Amino acid sequence: MESKIVHERKNPEARPYEPAKAPVFRRLTAAAIKRRKRKETFPLVTAYDAPFARFAEEAGIDVILVGDSLGNVVLGYDETTPVTMEQMIHHAQAVVRGTSRAHVIVDMPFGSYQVCDEEALRNAIRLVKEGGACSVKLEGGVHEADRVKAIARAGIPVVGHIGITPQTAGLGPGYKMRTHRDRLLADARAIEAAGAYAVVLEVVDAEIAREITELLTIPTIGIGSGAYCDSQVLVLHDVLGIYGHSPGFAKRYAEFGREATEALRVYAGEVRKHIFPG
Ligand code: KIV
Repeated sequence: MESKIVHERKNPEARPYEPAKAPVFRRLTAAAIKRRKRKETFPLVTAYDAPFARFAEEAGIDVILVGDSLGNVVLGYDETTPVTMEQMIHHAQAVVRGTSRAHVIVDMPFGSYQVCDEEALRNAIRLVKEGGACSVKLEGGVHEADRVKAIARAGIPVVGHIGITPQTAGLGPGYKMRTHRDRLLADARAIEAAGAYAVVLEVVDAEIAREITELLTIPTIGIGSGAYCDSQVLVLHDVLGIYGHSPGFAKRYAEFGREATEALRVYAGEVRKHIFPG
């Protein structure tokens, strides 16, 4: 009788373990990023899949953020709010597979850390174990400091995110530049004291961003917050010009959207006219 080897997983519900391309310990560490403070200004970019993460790494960008901007720029939502843990894990895995040395920060999506410290920690662990994250990022200042503390205490490096916090901006505070100096300083101090190794400042008045950068011992990562931050981050789709419109603070270094449409128009025309295949 023909014998057949059947590879069965014990628990068919369990997510198959997908090892990252390079283990976390071979990658740039959060501690090394923290040491860059006042020594070098470094670039970050977001990525959501393997090829673009590889392009970023090949371009010398060694800190990549799998942002929950995934919701807007890849998944077609108007907000980041609907993004789920499963979606973040799926895209984090792709970015990790596409890179070998870069430090991959993965965003904690809305709802994954707000309820309580335990749930925040459990979800941060999932991003590390299942997604391959080197560190995680969450939005909020004074009010989220306990979450940062719980995750950092478990040994998972955390990045804070203050100023405009897109997960909740649409629910109330809006997207205007943040200029409340005392509140921003208190948020920044609370995030540092809670154990974050870096903090994103999103659309914060440039002078306040400078003050925060001078005050903190951890790097500030600016987006639309002027030139005085320790580091800058942009959304990949803005850098590459994939959309017709980018926020005013972003700089487009290419026009991929236009080129893609043009290439597809030529391809479609060639098929219709029987030029391709030749
Ligand atoms: O989700 C994201 O892309 C971000 C950056 C804008 C910092 O959080």
